[in-house]
Amino acid sequence: MRFWLHFFGWLPFIILILQWQTDNLTVNPIQAATRFTGDWALIFLLLSLACTPLYILFKWRIPLKFRRPLGLYAFLYASIHFLIYVWIDYGWDWEYILPSLREKPFILAGASALFILLLLALTSFDFSPRWLGKAWKLLHRLVYLAGVLVILHFAWASKGDLLRLSGEILRPFIAALVLAVLLIIRIPHFRRWIQTLRSKE
Ligand code: HEM
Repeated sequence: MRFWLHFFGWLPFIILILQWQTDNLTVNPIQAATRFTGDWALIFLLLSLACTPLYILFKWRIPLKFRRPLGLYAFLYASIHFLIYVWIDYGWDWEYILPSLREKPFILAGASALFILLLLALTSFDFSPRWLGKAWKLLHRLVYLAGVLVILHFAWASKGDLLRLSGEILRPFIAALVLAVLLIIRIPHFRRWIQTLRSKE
């Protein structure tokens, strides 16, 4: 099982490198690579957030073991996504990067999410919970905030118009719906309701 997790974890990266090397990344390869890595960062983040709800709903313990590696793959793809923007697209030229934030304010939401993912990755070692005590739990709750910020970043970057139902709104909407369901399942009231249903079985 672990083999397949890491196989699928690295697969998008290998596909990206192959497409980059063979010039198969559309006429705008930087934009395509930014979108590809952003999509995979979001997919791994949602998969990582789905592990606990799967346990609550079906008592499946196996996904709980995958929560951390899936979160780290989300961080990996989010970091590549960030590097493509600041390094490949803007060559680390902050004179251009900073004004670009005025034109693309959605990046601030993405940057805040990336900062949270960085904190979580840095405190994801086996010894971290013992070392940080209660603060570790509080810190790792920020993953929900990261999820919300990423959806905001995605919806804002997609330039859709929710009121007029025009532009690219479907994918951010589906992602927001998935995140909302995953968060609702964790609400203590909902958890207790599931437990009472299960005890009646
Ligand atoms: C400083 C950090 C970040 C920067 C500079 C950044 C930059 C960008 C840019 C420029 C786009 C628009 C691409 C385009 O349509 O031309 C974008 C879209 C996107 N980003 Fe980020 N981002 C950051 C953080 C994140 C994080 C942390 C995630 C997820 C965990 C993420 C997920 C996405 C997604 C899903 C899209 C939409 C891709 C699509 O249209 O298919 N981003 N980002």
